[in-house]
Amino acid sequence: MAYPIHRPRRLRRSAVLRDMVRETSLAPSDFIYPLFVVEGRDVRRPISSMPGIFNLSVEHAVAEAKQAKALGVPSIILFGIPDQKDGRATQAYARDGIVQRAIRAVKEAVPEMQVIADVCLCEYTDHGHCGVIDGGHVANDATLPLLAQMAVTCAQAGADIIAPSDMMDGRVLALRKAMDEVGQVDTPILSYAVKYASGFYGPFREAAQSAPQFGDRRGYQMDPGNAREALHELAQDLSEGADMVMVKPALSYLDIIHRVKERCDVPVAAYNVSGEYAMLKAAAQNGWVDGDRVMMEILTSIKRAGADLILTYHALEAAKLL
Ligand code: PBG
Repeated sequence: MAYPIHRPRRLRRSAVLRDMVRETSLAPSDFIYPLFVVEGRDVRRPISSMPGIFNLSVEHAVAEAKQAKALGVPSIILFGIPDQKDGRATQAYARDGIVQRAIRAVKEAVPEMQVIADVCLCEYTDHGHCGVIDGGHVANDATLPLLAQMAVTCAQAGADIIAPSDMMDGRVLALRKAMDEVGQVDTPILSYAVKYASGFYGPFREAAQSAPQFGDRRGYQMDPGNAREALHELAQDLSEGADMVMVKPALSYLDIIHRVKERCDVPVAAYNVSGEYAMLKAAAQNGWVDGDRVMMEILTSIKRAGADLILTYHALEAAKLL
């Protein structure tokens, strides 16, 4: 063959042509923006490892939700950080707990904003684990009713979607039953079905003050070496009634996003987590990479891998660029 017959470069000659044949594009409607809500008034405290992200008191969270809405980002996920933590995560399921109040305030001020409640106990326990402790271990079955109560109180506060991130076995069914019993039959569950025990959560634990005070989360979150197990977790959560599923983290787990997408027919979300955000911000601040360009490339890769929705701290800046 003297000359190439196929010249893929033909379709790369101009920006218009490249736009025409692009297989994956991003839209602000792909994004879910995480917010960290704290007690108090007029708090807007920067999180040092996550430039541009803050601990927000309720009224600032509302303002941030308005801004997200104005930029075309349709959904936020709320993490509550209470002042009072205890062994049974009481504030996680208090009717007037920080996250329940934040949900009410956002839904009242910006009713069209879709509010997702992250359901997990680690921000609310004094030991920082995602469930109650018994004999030095996180007790699976004793944790389920507390998670269920948290889901119920969040749904009753007005949360549009409930997203359990604790990785206890059987929690999707426990949440579904509890919500159905109180009439919340139409509130969907977005399950963190495939969540790895990841070093990439470091900055989040600063933001949410939720680092475990002893041990780590490897007894309930997944081992990074496992892929088949992800499909097993996925199958469990779907059989228990998950309406949508999530893979987390995203960037080091693009293969898992792809496999989950191939395996199931429900919407797939991926969480572009705090450590992924922090790495990029650090490199960009040093001038080592072009922050905007790499941000869009990362988000595109997550979508290309199969994510229908992306939870990302970049949501607002990416929406501005789009
Ligand atoms: C709660 C939870 C965590 C994250 C989301 N929900 C922390 C953890 O499991 O330790 C991490 C999100 C991020 O790093 O951006 N369990």
